[in-house]
Amino acid sequence: MNNYETTSSWHLLQPYHVFTPNHLRRSHKRIGFTTVIFAFIITLLPAIAKAEPGMQKWLKPHKPESAEAIHQQLPYYPSRASTDRPLKPEMFENPEICQGCHGEIYQQWQRSVMAHSWKDPIYRALFKRASKATDGQVDNFCIACHSPIGMTSMNASAATLEDPDDNLPGVNCEVCHNIRGISGSDNGAYILAPNRDKHIKLGPRHDADSPYHQTEYSDLHTKSEFCSVCHNVSHPFNSTPIERTYDEWQESAYNEQGIQCQDCHMTPGPGQKTNPGKSAIMGKEREHIYSHEFSGGNSTLHQYFDDPIGAELAREMLRSAATMEFIDLPASLVAGELATIRVKVSNVGAGHKLPTGFPEGREVWVDFAVNSGEQAPIYRSGAVVDGHTEPGTRNFKVTLGDKNGDVVDLNVWEVDRILSDTRILPHGYAIVEYTFLVPASIQGPVTLDAKLNYWPFPQKLVDELLGEGKLTVDIVTMTTTSTELRVSTTKSDTSLAKRSAGTTTRKH
Ligand code: HEC
Ligand code: HEC
Ligand code: HEC
Ligand code: HEC
Ligand code: HEC
Repeated sequence: MNNYETTSSWHLLQPYHVFTPNHLRRSHKRIGFTTVIFAFIITLLPAIAKAEPGMQKWLKPHKPESAEAIHQQLPYYPSRASTDRPLKPEMFENPEICQGCHGEIYQQWQRSVMAHSWKDPIYRALFKRASKATDGQVDNFCIACHSPIGMTSMNASAATLEDPDDNLPGVNCEVCHNIRGISGSDNGAYILAPNRDKHIKLGPRHDADSPYHQTEYSDLHTKSEFCSVCHNVSHPFNSTPIERTYDEWQESAYNEQGIQCQDCHMTPGPGQKTNPGKSAIMGKEREHIYSHEFSGGNSTLHQYFDDPIGAELAREMLRSAATMEFIDLPASLVAGELATIRVKVSNVGAGHKLPTGFPEGREVWVDFAVNSGEQAPIYRSGAVVDGHTEPGTRNFKVTLGDKNGDVVDLNVWEVDRILSDTRILPHGYAIVEYTFLVPASIQGPVTLDAKLNYWPFPQKLVDELLGEGKLTVDIVTMTTTSTELRVSTTKSDTSLAKRSAGTTTRKH
């Protein structure tokens, strides 16, 4: 079956006492030359590492112990969100006000998935189910990330979904630019502190000057930790690491190199490092303006919201993420015998696992076919059958399990463990293998075609949540590779045979 040469599940087995160079650098400043010895001891004795703050995210889940402590520390339990004082909707401004001066940023943002985080039909359907199954226990949890203003100032709950006037804001300008701090790096641990009287907007510039509002420099906004509060999700009650995009990044070389989420997701497109211009009319001319498309992989949702530009940007992100090649190819195949073909898939562009995010759905897989001119495919693996990738498909995805070890595909509140994780690490690769019988009647040559596909969720899950025909999932081909091989009739022929054509790797 699946034969992966990948290290992608190592982190699940290791306690989080591993030091990243960043931590070393930080502690170096603090304790000088003893750092090296200190780090050495820590590596040897994980127990000591427990004393180091920030190292405890798995060892000690962020959960207050008594009901009173819950109320004090986590006003929106089970989410970790907090505010500086009780909030009212009037304390936030509408994005349409910002549009007046930040027209381009507004346009980019309103196309983004985050602008739709409350309206998203898949979210609404799953949220409804989750709330029902848990008697509303998870309501605050979901709403903290999908509508922070709704939760903190509008008393939103699952019942809000039934309200015909429901128009809660998603993750909008006023959410992000009023986050004054964080109290952790997951499960909604932002501190929301709007200040409408003074109109203070927190942002990345020391020298921003606006006639409408005050501005304040915020280092947090320039760092991945800002995104971590929402892009790191653990089960609120049993701490199973469900969706840990920030952790994946934090443990990667991108972190060491100082490449933040913003550097890939707040540019006009993959590989575009500069975006000169102004962020506002009356603003200063600058070498790089952080754009607000926040393109990820979910072209399906952009399509659903009638946004072909956003959908294409998401596809571009996906195409920039991976390369694929055949490796160890035989010189030729032998008719009537078994052949083995290996395909190497590399994560070259994503600063986290490939794929990352929403684990019930996100799936990348190889669709591999062997064809000879004369007949139907000799071999195929990775077709979509009945709204799922067919059994045996070489795919990269997380499989979640409940407390009995049974697979959980939608009811995420039942998750108790990770059954498998075959996603590809940042800068990592996986090798998948196919063995098939070359028919005796073949005279060759044959073509090998491999496509690397992505979908945000299997069509079957969407049909189950929304009903059939409501939303068509967009399957994106991230990259392809193909080659032609000769087929020889006898074994002795093989050694003499030459490969009839070179391997070509191309991107769509
Ligand atoms: C009357 C015009 C105007 C309006 C309306 C306006 N802004 Fe601004 N904003 C500016 C200007 C000008 C700058 C400075 C740009 C620069 O220096 O490059 C700015 C800068 C910013 C910054 C960057 C701050 C920093 O420290 O880097 C943020 C964030 C911001 N605005 C958010 C908002 C939000 C959110 C709204 C809507 C609630 C809004 N603005 C409405 C004109 C406006
Ligand atoms: C998901 C959070 C998020 C949302 C939503 C968001 N922003 Fe931002 N914005 C940021 C971050 C983070 C930065 C700074 C990026 C950096 O410096 O790395 C930023 C930067 C800015 C800047 C300064 C850009 C520059 O390069 O000088 C302005 C102006 C701004 N945002 C306005 C807005 C407006 C207006 C909206 C709504 C239409 C909005 N933002 C929505 C997170 C957000
Ligand atoms: C307040 C919570 C919150 C913050 C802060 C936040 N996000 Fe998000 N983000 C979300 C939610 C919720 C979604 C998913 C919405 C949906 O699919 O319904 C999302 C979606 C996205 C997507 C689209 C994913 C896809 O599948 O296409 C990208 C990319 C993204 N965020 C990047 C960022 C980056 C980069 C930052 C930091 C600068 C950030 N986010 C900060 C809540 C947040
Ligand atoms: C080196 C560039 C890079 C960095 C750094 C990076 N990303 Fe991504 N991200 C990508 C690419 C490329 C994709 C599309 C492929 C994929 O889905 O993994 C992506 C996809 C995503 C998605 C959508 C996943 C899906 O399939 O639904 C989210 C959400 C996301 N990134 C959030 C983040 C956050 C949060 C950070 C920081 C902790 C971050 N990214 C850092 C390049 C990057
Ligand atoms: C800590 C923040 C956080 C919490 C808590 C959270 N989400 Fe999300 N959710 C996200 C982010 C970020 C994404 C986008 C990830 C990606 O694009 O892969 C997302 C994506 C989703 C998606 C996929 C949407 C799509 O169109 O692809 C669904 C469905 C969803 N969340 C439902 C829920 C439900 C139900 C709950 C409560 C049980 C919940 N979420 C709790 C942050 C959160």
